[in-house]
Amino acid sequence: MEFEHKSVLLDETIEGLDIKPDGIYVDGTMGGAGHSSVILSKLGANGRLVCIDQDEDAIRTGTQRIGSDDRVKIVRSNYCNISQVLENLGISSVDGILLDLGVSSYQFDEAERGFSYRFDSPLDMRMDRRQTLTAKDIVNNYSEKELFRIIKTYGEEQFAQNIAKHIVLARQKDEINTTFELNEIIKASIPAKKRMNGHPSKKTYQALRIECNRELEVLKESLDTMMDLLNPGGRLCIITFHSLEDRIVKLAMKNAESPCTCPPEFPVCVCGKKSKGKVVTRKPIIPTQEEMLNNSRSSSAKLRIFEKI
Ligand SMILES: C[S@@+](CC[C@H](N)C(=O)[O-])C[C@H]1O[C@@H](n2cnc3c(N)ncnc32)[C@H](O)[C@@H]1O
Repeated sequence: MEFEHKSVLLDETIEGLDIKPDGIYVDGTMGGAGHSSVILSKLGANGRLVCIDQDEDAIRTGTQRIGSDDRVKIVRSNYCNISQVLENLGISSVDGILLDLGVSSYQFDEAERGFSYRFDSPLDMRMDRRQTLTAKDIVNNYSEKELFRIIKTYGEEQFAQNIAKHIVLARQKDEINTTFELNEIIKASIPAKKRMNGHPSKKTYQALRIECNRELEVLKESLDTMMDLLNPGGRLCIITFHSLEDRIVKLAMKNAESPCTCPPEFPVCVCGKKSKGKVVTRKPIIPTQEEMLNNSRSSSAKLRIFEKI
């Protein structure tokens, strides 16, 4: 399938990175290289760009888009390994890091990846197909309590309890193998009157995807490291697509700006925790009306920016 992907908040992110032509930049979620190719166009002969993605299809399509360029290194890895990736390239600090989180439209539209309830396919949902855990394993092996927890927490699904119960009942009869089998189970778990707000499977699929790829843990584990890797004046730009991700980013940036844990009545700081920099975006940047109309995937996007001291 031809790769067609509209990069979300493209101008706002490029402006947010405040690119220096001879700086070193990291795109931790290269995908189809939409953001990366614009970053590259702003770099001079001495600038460098490191592109990371854990998905082999993204590595292929992104590499095609970027073409051959000595200033660029493309690495298949999880962005949580950023320190190791940079160390292997002999880089100790950088001027900007971008994360454009979540699944690309390419991954969604590729039926066999199992990310979408729109196609009948095996339940997979792994971004990195070298990992063993799939959505099928989660659906067939997690306890009812664990299924409830992830569908409720990661999907913010009102009917999580009923969906978890129906999954467990269904799999007692036969293993659940495909997206369409799962769709039927979810549909039967939600009262007909309540199925008005979009596809009934939407929230459960989001939950399974987040669990399968450990999306929130990976994000939480990586943000401090990324801020530590920035040079003074360097920028961290993060685009999120749902409130769980946005909360993690907002909190990590706020804590990095004001980490002091001393009680307010203390005249001087004794905890010794020093600020790493400042939050550039008091409120997150959201897409324009025009972008939301042209690209429905952008409608929940939020960009937050942090600048290192
Ligand atoms: C929304 S797409 C990025 C699109 C890209 N900014 C563009 O403009 O073409 C997200 C990409 O991030 C990758 N990804 C998500 N989480 C990742 C992680 N923890 N480590 C590495 N890559 C990740 C996905 O495989 C996907 O290709």
